[in-house]
Amino acid sequence: MDSPNLQNIFDNETFFAGYAALRRQPANYNLLIEHPAMEALLPDLNGKSVLDLGCGFGENCETYRELGAREVLGIDLSEKMLTVARVEHSGSGIAYRRMDMTEIASLNQRFDVVVSSLAIHYIRDYASLLRDICACLAPQGIFLYSQEHPLVTAPQAGPDYAFDPQTGAPLYYRLDHYTCGGERSVEWFVEDVRKYHRTFSELVNTILQTGFRILQMEEPVPPPEMVQTYPAMRKEYHKPSFLIFKLQKAVDGLGRGESSTAFEPGREVLNHENLSGLPSAE
Ligand SMILES: C[S@@+](CC[C@H](N)C(=O)[O-])C[C@H]1O[C@@H](n2cnc3c(N)ncnc32)[C@H](O)[C@@H]1O
Repeated sequence: MDSPNLQNIFDNETFFAGYAALRRQPANYNLLIEHPAMEALLPDLNGKSVLDLGCGFGENCETYRELGAREVLGIDLSEKMLTVARVEHSGSGIAYRRMDMTEIASLNQRFDVVVSSLAIHYIRDYASLLRDICACLAPQGIFLYSQEHPLVTAPQAGPDYAFDPQTGAPLYYRLDHYTCGGERSVEWFVEDVRKYHRTFSELVNTILQTGFRILQMEEPVPPPEMVQTYPAMRKEYHKPSFLIFKLQKAVDGLGRGESSTAFEPGREVLNHENLSGLPSAE
């Protein structure tokens, strides 16, 4: 049974309909920006076992098999997402399982590579998840993941821009509450979609304290040719939408059982109320 704190928003009818329609558009950000950036960072998958956390519709699982992975296990919380995955992206060597990624320790399995696209900002306890991932990776295994960029998860009411009233050009991105880590409730197809904001220092320190080393980080933006085709994408140059980490289990990886005390998940450093008392920056 799902924990009462776990939000399975992708199984909400209205949310699912909106999200599926967005992903079916040929010019969506996942397809144009996130997927190519992730693929460029994939390790050699030949003969490897791969675990995909929050696999959604399963396109990536199929890609990993095409790139030579021996076996791919895609797990996801949403039955609706997995139903599409099973119909549209099945094949030999690909298995799907409905499961909360915070319970991967119960798989009792080792993988050469763990991947996750745009799912980890839905997880409250980042440190605990990273320790579990480290524990289920083979020695020096790779964990490649993307998440919404911290500048996207920061604003209390979700991302927003100011546009030039005459030309419609994006003038600037409205950033607020960057330093206040913790839960966000935003409107996206439905009200109260819950995600978790973590600052860069929380992300990087947690990664280093849970047994990983950082091989590469990327904040992909569309190339100029793409912006010519899709002018609305120009706003990505003010703020990238995605953050990608390529991590490797350290030889002396701490893994499961070790604790990092510096970061409590979902901790509020400052909150909305006490921020309003601060003098505004010059
Ligand atoms: C934005 S979608 C991305 C899907 C896919 N990775 C992709 O890039 O196309 C996020 C996915 O994460 C899944 N998810 C969210 N929380 C999860 C959890 N605790 N355990 C497993 N999957 C989860 C959602 O159900 C959803 O399918």
